[in-house]
Amino acid sequence: AKLGILISGRGSNMQSIVAAAGDAYEVVVVASDRPAAPGLAWALEHGIPTFALAPKDVGKQAYEAALDAALRAAGAEYLALAGYMRLLSDEFVAKWRDRIVNIHPSLLPKYKGLDTHARAIAAGDAVAGCSVHVVTEELDAGAVLAQAEVPILPDDTKDALAARVLAEEHRLYPRVLAKWLNR
Ligand code: GRF
Repeated sequence: AKLGILISGRGSNMQSIVAAAGDAYEVVVVASDRPAAPGLAWALEHGIPTFALAPKDVGKQAYEAALDAALRAAGAEYLALAGYMRLLSDEFVAKWRDRIVNIHPSLLPKYKGLDTHARAIAAGDAVAGCSVHVVTEELDAGAVLAQAEVPILPDDTKDALAARVLAEEHRLYPRVLAKWLNR
């Protein structure tokens, strides 16, 4: 399967997805809503075509139209959101129905949205983790495909917890993609 990856920042999940591709899928394009996203430079260095456009420069509708066109021109059949920090419009999601997945740093349905690790610590939870889910119009609410758990330790900070969860993200996301794209 031909996969496009959407990022907004450093792209460590993108790197783990690219590194694990093998015969399971092919990463054909990395796209970003932030032209300065560090992950874009990494993709370029690794010979992966990239697309970048700032929505504020052209407006959300034109941005998404250009994004959609670039993804299709690159041959993408499925999309993996990997630290993509922008909500896709209902129209965009409808065009890619059941072909977009995301990784979210919480044990969904807990802690949708931002600041998940601080919220899990503040709640006194004993475990945290990450979830790979199908993207629907509603934020972080589509069907969960798989989760990984980590302990929350006494005196944990949100940064320490985030690093522990991120290590699991890097293991979980490529595995789930390989299965889901070849189901
Ligand atoms: C990850 O924790 C992901 O779950 C969240 O944003 C972070 C992105 O990190 N949505 P990276 O850009 O993949 O390094």
